[in-house]
Amino acid sequence: MPNTPFYITTPIYYVNDKPHIGHAYTTILADVLARYHRLLGDPVHFLTGTDEHGQKVQQAAESGGIPAQDHADRTVVRFQELWERLEITNNDFIRTTEERHKIIVQEILQDLYDRGEIYDAEHEGWYDISSETFVTDKDVDEDNLPDHIVRIKERNYFFRMGSYQEWLIQYIEDNPTFIQPDFRRNETLGFLRQPLQDLCISRPKTRLAWGIELPFDKDFVTYVWFDALVNYISAIGYRRDDAQFATWWPATYQLIGKDILTTHTVYWPTMLKAMGVELPQTIFAHGWWLSGQSKMSKSAGNVVDPMKYIDQYGVDAFRYFLMAEMVLGQDASFTEETFSRRYNTDLANDLGNLLSRVTKLILSHFDGRIPTPAETGAEESKLQEVALALSNGVGDAVQRMRLDDGLAQIAAAFRETNRYLEQRQPWVLAKDPHQKELLGTVLYHGAEVLRIVSGLLYPVMPGKMEELRSVLGLPAGEPDIEKLGHWGVLKPGAEVRKITGLFPRTDSRAQKAGAAEQGKPEKKEIEGVMQAEFADFQKIELKTARIVEAERVPDTDKLLRLQLDVAGESRQIVAGIAAYYEPETLVGRTIVIVANLKPAKIRGVESQGMLLAASTDDSLRLVTVDGEIPTGARVG
Ligand code: MSP
Repeated sequence: MPNTPFYITTPIYYVNDKPHIGHAYTTILADVLARYHRLLGDPVHFLTGTDEHGQKVQQAAESGGIPAQDHADRTVVRFQELWERLEITNNDFIRTTEERHKIIVQEILQDLYDRGEIYDAEHEGWYDISSETFVTDKDVDEDNLPDHIVRIKERNYFFRMGSYQEWLIQYIEDNPTFIQPDFRRNETLGFLRQPLQDLCISRPKTRLAWGIELPFDKDFVTYVWFDALVNYISAIGYRRDDAQFATWWPATYQLIGKDILTTHTVYWPTMLKAMGVELPQTIFAHGWWLSGQSKMSKSAGNVVDPMKYIDQYGVDAFRYFLMAEMVLGQDASFTEETFSRRYNTDLANDLGNLLSRVTKLILSHFDGRIPTPAETGAEESKLQEVALALSNGVGDAVQRMRLDDGLAQIAAAFRETNRYLEQRQPWVLAKDPHQKELLGTVLYHGAEVLRIVSGLLYPVMPGKMEELRSVLGLPAGEPDIEKLGHWGVLKPGAEVRKITGLFPRTDSRAQKAGAAEQGKPEKKEIEGVMQAEFADFQKIELKTARIVEAERVPDTDKLLRLQLDVAGESRQIVAGIAAYYEPETLVGRTIVIVANLKPAKIRGVESQGMLLAASTDDSLRLVTVDGEIPTGARVG
């Protein structure tokens, strides 16, 4: 069966200011979907671009004291640079000041005017300068007029939008997937319960000169939205290249933010209907990113700058966070804490740990070659089942536009694999030559899960997954999606490469604590388990913690550096237990720590707490908990 063409668009962004997280989000979402469909073998066309006309851009240019086109030329580069940095694979980038777009807008206007779909009339009403729209009398409180609402009386051109009201309601009801999610469809239907006015599509040049001139009246430019919406079809050859247009239109997904629902689900479909063009398959409106719980705004100074996070955590982690954290359709909260917590939990700990456990043991016990799996038991069957269900599960989540859910399934799979390793204890098997066959089987299973998840995560984190796949000896380039639903694809004997820190752990808390320590005289170095300084035992906060990573502190024979998970927060402690425990045997254990101990440096390594252990002169055993309990649980 031939694959269906997939055409996806983002809104075109105003060039009045530099891009922010909202712009980055929609563009990454479109990119992930485009990449996923390319894996499926679908012909894909992904369009993004910039909206360069209208009042907002004119005002920004005026305040910068430069011509509007110069302002647009400067600002567009910031979007293009960000898309490059974010590894966005758009097939085209349209700017509404390009000739290829302006000509089509004018042809459409002329055609609609010739056919009586556009008429002129004297109009008096309230006009909102900030949104560039007329507002109805009932929405204006004349005794309390804000500065941006002004009374205007002028001749203008109108598009007969109102005449399509009944048709549009019917269309939306007959095509339930046209507006998604469902509650947004209801919002549009609610809006359409009021009489639908004709749309004023002109602005006199005396008021706004920065726009596309009406071909039938040189005293006017067209309303910025009438110009902007046309980009979705002018970019793919409407009225110019019928074959190209027929290939991509109707669009599969038009992604928008919730604030531009009416323009896309009322103006746009009625414009298309008047032009005699089919409607897009789905307009999908996502929610907004909030800064904590508040709306982001320049005046509040809480707008998230994508570059800051890309610089700190890397492009892939940023893409992953945005896709994993937002339930499509709903608002989501962005805070540095949630970012760093998710990064550390999902990527640095769970995925990073799995990768380092598997590759380290393959390198040290199988000459760096994928081992041959032998007979498998119930644990292996269970793991295979989980891994094999992933491909369909993720595909289904993408279909339902629940990318967060797809990513949660993947993260659950690498957690399951870590649990499997904790059960099988390959680091213990590695010590017994008779267990080599089982060790090979266990490591093969870990590596296969990594192969599958690296393929499924590829559209979200292309750079890091390419790296991970090359570590497993997989070919460069896009993964073969077919193989992600099959077990046993890795070839025994294939070379595995060493990798260090695919997602290096970061901890904003630890960094802050570290920064606070700077400049202070370094604490006296302590060998072995730190002694608590507290006089009053009541002050001690004991908590459960899971060991996610353990390694020797270089140049000592007593100290281990342990990386812990405490309720999703990552922290590091140094403990004098190296004589009693091999580092690999500790990973996965739940221990008890003193959580509120002042950070101290032990042999130059920061320790944020201490663990509890029972000891005699010649033995030491860790204090652990009896059974399952989440990390961060209070002890005492
Ligand atoms: N130029 C118009 C769109 C024309 S499309 C034919 C426009 N541009 S915009 O730059 O103001 O906004 C572009 C997109 O960014 C919108 O979809 C808007 O919803 C989205 N976002 C703006 N702030 C946002 C958040 N805080 N969170 C998520 N998206 C947000 O509107």
